[in-house]
Amino acid sequence: MKHLLNILDLTTEELDDLIKTALDIEANPEKYQDKCAHKTLATLFFEPSTRTRLSFESAMLSLGGSVLGFSSASASSTAKGESCADTIEVVSGYVDIIAMRHPKEGAAQVGIDHSRCPVINAGDGGHYHPTQTLADICTIYKEKGRLNNLTIGVCGDLKYGRTVHSLLACMSRYSGIKFVLISPKELALPEFEKQEFIKNKNIPYEEIQSLEEAIPQLDILYMTRIQKERFLDANEYERLKDSYVLTAEKMELAKKDMIVLHPLPRVNEISVKVDKDPRACYFEETRCGKYMRMALIMKLLKEKNEPINIEIKDTFVGDKKCANPHCITGTEQELDNLVYKDKEGFIRCAYCDSIVK
Ligand code: CP
Repeated sequence: MKHLLNILDLTTEELDDLIKTALDIEANPEKYQDKCAHKTLATLFFEPSTRTRLSFESAMLSLGGSVLGFSSASASSTAKGESCADTIEVVSGYVDIIAMRHPKEGAAQVGIDHSRCPVINAGDGGHYHPTQTLADICTIYKEKGRLNNLTIGVCGDLKYGRTVHSLLACMSRYSGIKFVLISPKELALPEFEKQEFIKNKNIPYEEIQSLEEAIPQLDILYMTRIQKERFLDANEYERLKDSYVLTAEKMELAKKDMIVLHPLPRVNEISVKVDKDPRACYFEETRCGKYMRMALIMKLLKEKNEPINIEIKDTFVGDKKCANPHCITGTEQELDNLVYKDKEGFIRCAYCDSIVK
């Protein structure tokens, strides 16, 4: 069955089709108002959300379908100790498609492994957030008219930022891309992602700590929040939380046609004064998110039983447990130590992709 775990589950041709459909939905919403009549979406959010959950719900309602679900783990039987696997097994018997978010990395893989219907990963810890990337690329396409030949700066939490990981993975497939990685060294992009999405593909990149120094060369500035909920050490969060603030003064250093994206929510990393700048596209991005989710829901419901056209990891049961404290294997009962060997020969957890030592 087709699911969406990772943005790389979709080819660039499929992404082009989704953008085309999303733009048509925006222009002609009435054409799509009954496309999912009699179909039901479950939104299972074990972690807080505003945009992703509500845009999924709005998307399904605009397609003529219905929606059920929960918006926090405490409002579900997770609070009584039910596993993620059992929750998905049960709910997938009630609905046609599931969008799930979970604080643990690899939880979406558990969902996929136990579902009778397509599962969309709406964010699993610091791992992936593919539908945010759909919103990002639709906005980039609308604003810049292309997805190639772009210098993209990603700023803030590149270590735990799942939206950054998915965006880099996605954009690394287009030609003429340069990445500028702007972060404090404590929140630098993990080596695995750097190797996989940048170095292995010979994509030019710079790592830099100063936003002011980086901004003049950018076509796109992707700001992110320093995410309190991902830190194990509260003192480290306090030290890093104000690392970057995009102000109207810093925008003066940028190109006249640079665009600013942010997955939102923001705390203080973009001054509200920047909102009035025509280059600020983060609210437009939230609207694109709804149309892209509409296009995705239709696609997965239509193609759910078609052959899968992605590389399947060759997994096996390893002898060591994943040591990533953010991995679903640490909390979900009786998961096998499923691992796979990556292209460099490292053994990685099949759920969160961390190296298993
Ligand atoms: N961008 C995003 O995932 O926002 P929410 O956490 O509000 O869903």
